[in-house]
Amino acid sequence: MVMAKTDATAGIGSDVARIDGRLKVTGEARYGSDFAVPNPAYAVFKTSAIARGRIAAIDDGAARSVPGVLDILTYRDVGDEVGEAGFFASGGYAGTTIRPLASDRIWHDGQIVAVVLADSFEAAREAAHRLVVDYAAEPPAAGFDGPGVEEEDAKKDDPAKGDAERALREAAVMVEADYATPTQHHNPIELFTTTCAWTGDRLTIWEPSQNVYGIRNGVAKQLSLDPEQVRVVSPYVGGAFGSRGSLTQRTALIALAAKRLNRPVKLMATRDQGYTIATYRAETRHRVRLGADAQGRLQALSHEGWEVTSRPDSYKVAGTSATTRVYACSNIASEVTILHADRNTPGFMRSPPEVPYVFALESAMDELAVKLGMDPIELRRINDTDVEPVGGKPFTTRSLMKCFDAGAKAFGWSERDPTPGSMRDGDWLVGWGCATTLYPTHIAPATARVTLTPAGKAIVRTAAHDIGTGAYTAIALTAADRLGLPLDRIAVEIGDTNFPPAPVAGGSNTTASVCNVVAKACEQVRGQLASAVTAAGDGPFAGSDPNALILAEGELRGPGNASEAIGDAMARASSGAIEAYAENVPDGLQQKALGQLYQGLPALTGGAQMEDRAQFAFGAEFIEVRVNARTREIRCPRALGVFAAGQIVSRRTAESQLIGGLIWGMSSALHEVTEIDRGAARYYNDDLAEYLIPVNADIGKVEVMILPEDDEQVNALGIKGLGELGNVGTNAAIANAVYHATGVRIRSLPIRIEKLLGDRSA
Ligand code: MOS
Repeated sequence: MVMAKTDATAGIGSDVARIDGRLKVTGEARYGSDFAVPNPAYAVFKTSAIARGRIAAIDDGAARSVPGVLDILTYRDVGDEVGEAGFFASGGYAGTTIRPLASDRIWHDGQIVAVVLADSFEAAREAAHRLVVDYAAEPPAAGFDGPGVEEEDAKKDDPAKGDAERALREAAVMVEADYATPTQHHNPIELFTTTCAWTGDRLTIWEPSQNVYGIRNGVAKQLSLDPEQVRVVSPYVGGAFGSRGSLTQRTALIALAAKRLNRPVKLMATRDQGYTIATYRAETRHRVRLGADAQGRLQALSHEGWEVTSRPDSYKVAGTSATTRVYACSNIASEVTILHADRNTPGFMRSPPEVPYVFALESAMDELAVKLGMDPIELRRINDTDVEPVGGKPFTTRSLMKCFDAGAKAFGWSERDPTPGSMRDGDWLVGWGCATTLYPTHIAPATARVTLTPAGKAIVRTAAHDIGTGAYTAIALTAADRLGLPLDRIAVEIGDTNFPPAPVAGGSNTTASVCNVVAKACEQVRGQLASAVTAAGDGPFAGSDPNALILAEGELRGPGNASEAIGDAMARASSGAIEAYAENVPDGLQQKALGQLYQGLPALTGGAQMEDRAQFAFGAEFIEVRVNARTREIRCPRALGVFAAGQIVSRRTAESQLIGGLIWGMSSALHEVTEIDRGAARYYNDDLAEYLIPVNADIGKVEVMILPEDDEQVNALGIKGLGELGNVGTNAAIANAVYHATGVRIRSLPIRIEKLLGDRSA
């Protein structure tokens, strides 16, 4: 339970320290990996040394003779005992359909081939090293341009309108360019762990997760259990961002191991195993063609994308759903192709569709501005629109140009000399770039239970997830606001299937989904208290209209200055607690979506999917880079993001999300790439030493401004999610700044020194 320890009048929109901050920095917060179980056995994975083929033989003699080894599970022991849970993209639970110990088949390098169980971690690791697996290997395809890659037309409903080919032929100015983004991997500080324990026929799973109900229902399906038999606990998560959003391959294997040993089992996968047993960002390629008239008005927009996925799974992100909806344009074409290679199935990674696709679009927009001799902000202004161009649906709110204007002022954009290489500071070439960012505003069904205790404290319980985003704080602020209680009287309990269900913490929906339902439950509590005190024979509210009573500043208040402390009103109304359970089904979804929620299945709506409207959050990102004229070393001393995202619930954690997004954007643009041995289809920089991410010295000044925005349509509280808004535009803003500094257009991420060495136009 997390109790707030701050300011007495805080509510929705307040700037407070996160209420779980103290627990985290003092080590009291228990992450999914931290829970102690009595007498655990330890599991270590052995993973495949080939990317494609079959297991030919297993010799476990030496492994089993290691002292302390309890058992070794391979496909010979497991098979169909762990069943299918369905691929999430087809309405199932799992992030991949690959079931590692179901057969001798090898789909990718690093696939789990054995679970080694021992009394100690060291014995399990030793035995895993001694386990001999022989393979019948076939030549693998690693990805783009690999032999044996299979193409699939991925999207049947590619956004399109008018005649883009004709409009491109007729346009006065045209940009045509190819872009590429690399494979990128999650490196959460909390590794991919699972702990399972059985009590009779009841299973408890401790696992860092973005979807505890998804794990409960998915594992129940795989092991033929009633979901009620499975409890999943994940109160804190040490890095998620999509890496823990869907059911993993490992969870049911560890549950099965615990059942067979009749003993709790703890698994900790290694850092490098995390590269092949969890999700990652797929490698993509793009061709963007923009046609404009001489004034810069877009006449045609065509975006083709190619994405690499695994052999069996048609995972795709298809960010054309966003890039075709940013600017006014009458002729739009798009197409997405996926390529099946011998790789593990990619998956969610912060703003999965938008990051690669918006990099391509916003780079191409900058190229168009250069070709037109136009300021890039003015090009966005001339193509601004109040309706999304594909379906003609009005945006609920769109503050894009307000963000650009506020940002330009704060950044000093008017001082920018547009000529590349012209803003030199000694040995450093200074570049200023900007880009649009956007993210669909999602919401899902959610439930919550709010209890007002006789002492006048409130407890909020819902199986939501705080993946570092500030959900505890946003929920507490909402309850404090609606119950009129000081923040330190609110306790929040989340991340446990013992609580009523909340959606997957994905698609930036948690704040909108959960705060709306918490507000609803608080209103029910107020209503119950008001009904009781107005029905009572005495007291200041006897006979009043219950609907006229409000909760504020620790009091119940009614007409004619009638008021009473909440604790006193509680004592009059009930000698126990007042409790309310609330459900919220967002506009655009049917009541049956609640059933999906209870089953742990995603039921998100929003973005461009709404029938009558389009709902997105927008922002403008500004970057200063400095490129050394001699060495081409790239520095990024300054980043500014200006955003509007409806009602902000928890101001400080919202700003932190956006700052983090900008920093991740710098990481993506300048540092991150998973290098692949193309012959073996194997990752080779799969550790924190060689997978480059920025350190403090790489990050200069990062500033965030959030503009006020009232949106009455998106949901009752007017909340637009912003967890994924921050990093969408940054790749392009940096590439555009690098162009401005050097005159060299880099269309393939990451942008590193070697890509700037050849061309010396500035
Ligand atoms: Mo986020 S990639 O939608 O978990």
